[in-house]
Amino acid sequence: MRFDIVTLFPGIFPGYLQQSILSKAIERGIVSVHLHDLRDWTHDKHRSVDDRPYGGGPGMVIRVEPVVECVEEIQARGDEPGRLILLSPQGKRLDQRLVSDLATASRLVLICGRYEGFDQRVIDILQPEEISIGDYVLNGGEVAAMVIIDSVLRLIPGVLGDERSSQEDSFSQQHGMLECAQYTRPRVYRGREVPPILLTGDHERIARWRQEDSYRRTRAKRRDLLPDPERPPEDDSTT
Ligand code: ADE
Repeated sequence: MRFDIVTLFPGIFPGYLQQSILSKAIERGIVSVHLHDLRDWTHDKHRSVDDRPYGGGPGMVIRVEPVVECVEEIQARGDEPGRLILLSPQGKRLDQRLVSDLATASRLVLICGRYEGFDQRVIDILQPEEISIGDYVLNGGEVAAMVIIDSVLRLIPGVLGDERSSQEDSFSQQHGMLECAQYTRPRVYRGREVPPILLTGDHERIARWRQEDSYRRTRAKRRDLLPDPERPPEDDSTT
């Protein structure tokens, strides 16, 4: 899978790209990430990418020409234009369903915004999908682009060591429930014991316990994820 990132701050990414899962996937050729500095598509000697808004008001607006020219050029470079995404708090909210859908693409081109936003003609001309990572405002789309890469990568075959682990993630389970509790050694720490059932070696009972624990946690922490969130707790049965 190929990611292209269009940004004013390419220097934000290398630390993240060197983290182990991603760097191994890059080394193994499963994933490639290409950074594009918007300033390379400016025409003036100051390499200015933003300007004051028409009609007045505070802040600066990212100019239309560098963004459109950059995106058109990089989309023409690869084997296919890919899915074009603009990170914006005004976009469709990212959830695991959208992540799974994005993971079916072979190329994602991610445009990171900054300042007060883009000239509207960027959106009108390029018609990107606008995606938000949540109802809050970041300083720019770079962190949001990393969130997309990180969540999508987990679903690409061969990226995680153990294929099962992404399917068992919270939200990816059959009914979109949270992941069950996990334990490792020591068996007792500060008086707190690992649930004895996990030590029995009885795989069927362990699987059932895990399912029940997922349900209990979802009910306690994220009731809204349950198929029938309005049902009162006393009606809940896990068997
Ligand atoms: N840019 C600024 N805020 C954002 C958000 N919440 N999601 C995606 N991109 C953004």
